[in-house]
Amino acid sequence: MPSASPLSRRPAWRALVAHREALGETHLKTLFAEQPDRYRAFTRSAAGLTLDLAKQRWTPETRERLLALAREADVPGAIGRLLDGERVNISEDRPALHTALRLPESASLVVEGEDLVPAVHRTLARMEAMVARLHTGQWRGATGKPIRDVVNLGVGGSDLGPLMVTHALADFRPEGVHGLEVHFASTMDGSQLADYLGRLNPETTLFVLSSKSFTTIDTLSNARTARDWLLARLTGERVGMPAALVMRQHFIGVSASPEKMRDWGIADAHQLEFWEWVGGRYSLWGAIGLPIALVVGMDHFRELLAGAHAMDRHFREAELADNLPVLLALAGIWNVNFLDIRAHSILPYDGRLEYFAAYLEQLEMESNGKSVTHDGRQVDYATCPVLWGQLGPNAQHAFYQLLHQGTQAVVCDFIAPLRRYDEVEDAATRAHLKEQHRLTLANCFAQSRVLMLGDEALADGDAQPSHKRYRGNQPSTTLLLERLTPATLGALIALYEHKVYVQAVIWDINPFDQWGVELGKRIAGETERILARRRGQEAMDDSSRGLIEAFWAAEAEVP
Ligand code: F6P
Repeated sequence: MPSASPLSRRPAWRALVAHREALGETHLKTLFAEQPDRYRAFTRSAAGLTLDLAKQRWTPETRERLLALAREADVPGAIGRLLDGERVNISEDRPALHTALRLPESASLVVEGEDLVPAVHRTLARMEAMVARLHTGQWRGATGKPIRDVVNLGVGGSDLGPLMVTHALADFRPEGVHGLEVHFASTMDGSQLADYLGRLNPETTLFVLSSKSFTTIDTLSNARTARDWLLARLTGERVGMPAALVMRQHFIGVSASPEKMRDWGIADAHQLEFWEWVGGRYSLWGAIGLPIALVVGMDHFRELLAGAHAMDRHFREAELADNLPVLLALAGIWNVNFLDIRAHSILPYDGRLEYFAAYLEQLEMESNGKSVTHDGRQVDYATCPVLWGQLGPNAQHAFYQLLHQGTQAVVCDFIAPLRRYDEVEDAATRAHLKEQHRLTLANCFAQSRVLMLGDEALADGDAQPSHKRYRGNQPSTTLLLERLTPATLGALIALYEHKVYVQAVIWDINPFDQWGVELGKRIAGETERILARRRGQEAMDDSSRGLIEAFWAAEAEVP
């Protein structure tokens, strides 16, 4: 038998095991009956967000014991190490300094002898200059026409963050700027790109190649297709523009590798650089956020940074017991490790947050989907749960059936803005939309209540046959934003980033690497060579061989 890990030997961990046994199967409705002021007791606010953890299946004692675990794991010290730029990304031996990207210009953060803030703000200034040229119609394509469409080519962190935020903040487009549409193409199969290439004008289209490594095959294969599409249409006999001009005017590169951008053909003046110490899934705050700045303008982009910075300050300064990221993390630890709830659903009640769950899937699962501790031991406890989600109102008509009556225990995060539509000019439309907002919040609050109470949500409920019964007792968190603004969205994202970090500290895993994606990339490369050469499959397993041969057979059928 391998010895127990340091975490499961901790006194606070053992105390939690005993506490969980003592709680037994106590139903959430009992916890509410025993403690009528749970909302006040379990709700905390910061940076425009209110976090209600009252519907977690826990008691004040549970929270105290979890806070003791956090102290034993030195979460306060770990917060300082992260924000001060220590090399918390152990396997890659570097800091994880996404928080430096949102420090105000007046701040200073000296890491290993260098103040990082001036370089961060130089990049922001370069972004601002590019945004200004595009917003005034001064950035022209090779034939002299102003750029009208920008297509971001990137995947994972170089796609999901900007995609999610541009969608969430589409109401914040600045007025009076030259019309510009921003699009995203990520999939290596080219489906999204093929659609854009079919309808965009090459003369007025600019591509942003976003890739921290500038080696990601998904992005580079889309980029090659885009480059050839442009060159074929703008340099041919008919239009006759020089290839170098086309490359210069139709591509921006964003990467931590300037040499690779240059080798690919991105003009020096159109490169935006960031740093190895920013993880891909934590990178929307800097140059990777260019599409965000293009949609919402640089002032709103800076508000997004300021909101995240407000959460960073709260994270550093607030007591553990009032610290939103810490509390959110501890609720997660309680669910996963003590209540054995391994599924987590993200349910925003605001259509603007359509891509928030997809964004969090990468943030949480690529960060904490790990099973080896810092000193190389296999963990003997669960880490990141399976996380997925969808807009709550739509999910009500899709998978809520399972949440209410299925056999899986699931914890849910409900996310909603308190106020909406105040700025709609037409009074009648405003009144309708506000009514829709109220309806949406009613659904949000009703769902968490039914998940919690089950049948007893109905005061006068008759006895029902078993297929109409609801057992309840499914825990949830509700996160309210005062309004959805650049600042509150920044704070919301930073909240989850820090939650992930706190959980990783307690689980003793590295949230800043992603070695689990590497083997698949290597084997895909080998497989692609086999597919292209039409040989080499013999030594493979029977299933893979069968699939490869089926592809060759399909290829052979092409007329
Ligand atoms: O393969 C996973 C990953 O490395 C993610 O961590 C990253 O966000 C994505 O690929 C894209 O990487 P890059 O920005 O280097 O193209």
